[in-house]
Amino acid sequence: MTPYTFNGPAWQESWDRQQEAYLPDREERFTAMLDAVEAVTEWPAPRILDLAGGTGSISLRAQRRFPQANTTLLDLDPVTLTIARATLDERSTVVSADLLSPEWVTTLPHRDYDAVLVATALHWLAPERLAALYAEIRTVLRPGGVLVNADSMVDDGLPDLSKRLADRATARREARYAAGAVLSWSAWWDHARTDPTLAPLVAERDRLFAANHNQDWLPPASWHVQTLRDAGFTEAGLIWRGAQDAAVAAVR
Ligand SMILES: C[S@@+](CC[C@H](N)C(=O)[O-])C[C@H]1O[C@@H](n2cnc3c(N)ncnc32)[C@H](O)[C@@H]1O
Repeated sequence: MTPYTFNGPAWQESWDRQQEAYLPDREERFTAMLDAVEAVTEWPAPRILDLAGGTGSISLRAQRRFPQANTTLLDLDPVTLTIARATLDERSTVVSADLLSPEWVTTLPHRDYDAVLVATALHWLAPERLAALYAEIRTVLRPGGVLVNADSMVDDGLPDLSKRLADRATARREARYAAGAVLSWSAWWDHARTDPTLAPLVAERDRLFAANHNQDWLPPASWHVQTLRDAGFTEAGLIWRGAQDAAVAAVR
């Protein structure tokens, strides 16, 4: 029998497959986020903060596209942090912090990022906390740096059509789960409980997030754009949309 070793990159890959089931356009969305980084960066070594970065999907893609990039990944989840630490190389710093508290800023190695990238994460924050977080993010960007937040955020001019599109996407996803083509979110976590390294961390995660998680809150893209302007960004608007999913960008 082969002795057990923890395989971070294999877990990172399986995380990507699981997330793609929710977001068939996920790679296209990442490319749009990195296009925004390139647009504000004049040298080949951008300094990027991968906020709520999970297993490191954005950091990995940033380093593939900008080999001299310096990335910081911040997250709270001990499971995804362990996978990220086992996957990313010395170009990355990985920090554990809770975005529910403004103290997260003090855990960063830098305060002059070219870009802060965050994907599929901030819907866990309540409106007042998200508005405050946008202002905090601005303080860790250099002047001219860019924040991109990609998440579910409908166009509020299309409430009914957005719902129909979302219902169809859900039906397609459920069919893939039923066919065993990909692991669902809950099946992925069950799978992680079978790994000797991850199992105790999943239990720790369950304790951490049970205490401090808000219900999903999914305002339309217009809310994000207005809130970013109110937070003091000089420009804010959409750089990408795929059905109900979108990426808002804001420039300091
Ligand atoms: C769905 S994952 C997305 C991860 C990554 N951005 C991606 O696209 O693969 C959301 C991430 O947000 C993190 N997160 C949620 N609440 C958080 C908090 N209060 N502080 C820090 N990270 C948080 C989770 O631990 C998780 O890794």
